[in-house]
Amino acid sequence: MKHHKKLPKGSVVAALDVGTSKTACFIARMLDDSGAMEVVGVGYQASQGMKNGTIMDLEAVESSIRKTVHSAENMAAEVMKGYPLRDIVAVIPAVHCNTSFVPIDVQISGQEVMENDVRRAVVKAQQQTNREETENIHTIPVGFTLDGKVGISDPRGLFGKEMGVDITIVQAGILPLKNITTSVERSHLDIMGACVSSYASGLACLVEDELELGSTVLDIGGGTTSISVFYGGKLVYAGAIPLGGSHITNDVARGLNTPINDAERIKTLYGSAMASSIDDTEMIDVPVLGEEPGTINHVPRSMLIGIIQPRLEEIFEMVRAKLDESGLLNYLGRNIILTGGTSQLPGLRELAQRYLNKQARLGRPHQIKGIPDITKGPEFAAITGSLIYMRDRFHEQPHQVLMQTEPSNLVERIGFWFKQNW
Ligand SMILES: Nc1ncnc2c1ncn2[C@@H]1O[C@H](COP(=O)(O)OP(=O)(O)OP(=O)(O)O)[C@@H](O)[C@H]1O
Ligand SMILES: [Mg+2]
Repeated sequence: MKHHKKLPKGSVVAALDVGTSKTACFIARMLDDSGAMEVVGVGYQASQGMKNGTIMDLEAVESSIRKTVHSAENMAAEVMKGYPLRDIVAVIPAVHCNTSFVPIDVQISGQEVMENDVRRAVVKAQQQTNREETENIHTIPVGFTLDGKVGISDPRGLFGKEMGVDITIVQAGILPLKNITTSVERSHLDIMGACVSSYASGLACLVEDELELGSTVLDIGGGTTSISVFYGGKLVYAGAIPLGGSHITNDVARGLNTPINDAERIKTLYGSAMASSIDDTEMIDVPVLGEEPGTINHVPRSMLIGIIQPRLEEIFEMVRAKLDESGLLNYLGRNIILTGGTSQLPGLRELAQRYLNKQARLGRPHQIKGIPDITKGPEFAAITGSLIYMRDRFHEQPHQVLMQTEPSNLVERIGFWFKQNW
């Protein structure tokens, strides 16, 4: 649905992504009223205390958030006029989320469909899916029917008796959310909104036609592979599996008997997703674990790739199983877009194509003015996309929907879920 309020010129928005490998913060400013924005502050550094998208050590995470936000604030000092950053949009690791696709009917009684009828449907879906142990992160009306007529993208203004809406509900576990909120709040920041990581990565990398025709996005990060499916311009699925590049690094360390740091370096320098004919003859130097510095093994590059490829195949198998069980077969489309740090492995596109039986391409985040070259890569898809989300889709936040819905006692009762529950 269109016609939602744009962020006004001059407003500042900021996003924070605490990933398994790195923590990043982007601060952006709206340049005009039509949606042009400029990134004015960027901070990032290696994450501490994270495993597979989950906080394992609160103090360590808090400390990396503080340092990251501090460098973004410093870069943005002129625009922020010395004020500290207060509100951020948090990127929620998709690994803590599950998606349901909820059909809702509401009575219109022969009247014109109003904005409020759509909201009523969303609120009904929210109430139906409300659980103690989860919180709604996204509630997105995807498609409408009116008195049985299908394929209506925006029913407002049409007359009818009964409206049906399919709603994507993405929920996150309350306990991981509490840990995220605590680490953010201890860093003297407030969470003003939340966006699931894989949704953000999709918004960052997909072009309009891909959003429309049906596409699957895989953000292969450090500790997780996050999945999102888009159809008709809307998010229809978000989920993840707890495997990523750090598992590949560990496999390499174990398989080549080398320290983790060396395994990481060897993976990024010589790694590949698929063996090619040259690799048989090419030898690489591998420091030996536990031996004197300078003790080196020479191993064929094909051996390295022989370690990497099966792990990636496992990841793709698990992705395929997840998508199969999601029941979204009709929505999946022909396209796979690969992003996240691990998508930089050569040959990944071909392997994904073979395993997932789809057309694959590498996704790089859309360029927003002001983003330094070093933070333009696929590792920064989720953080870049969460700014785009803020700009274009903030009205999808469940509390935004509730705050605009009558009757007002409902607003009073649950309108402030965000601050209360987290
Ligand atoms: N050139 C490269 N080739 C292969 N892998 C790479 C390369 N550069 C980075 N990586 C891998 O990318 C991973 C980090 O990716 P990214 O920054 O997207 O993860 P993250 O967002 O911190 O983690 P997650 O999303 O899983 O919580 C690391 O495992 C790293 O080894
Ligand atoms: Mg990530």
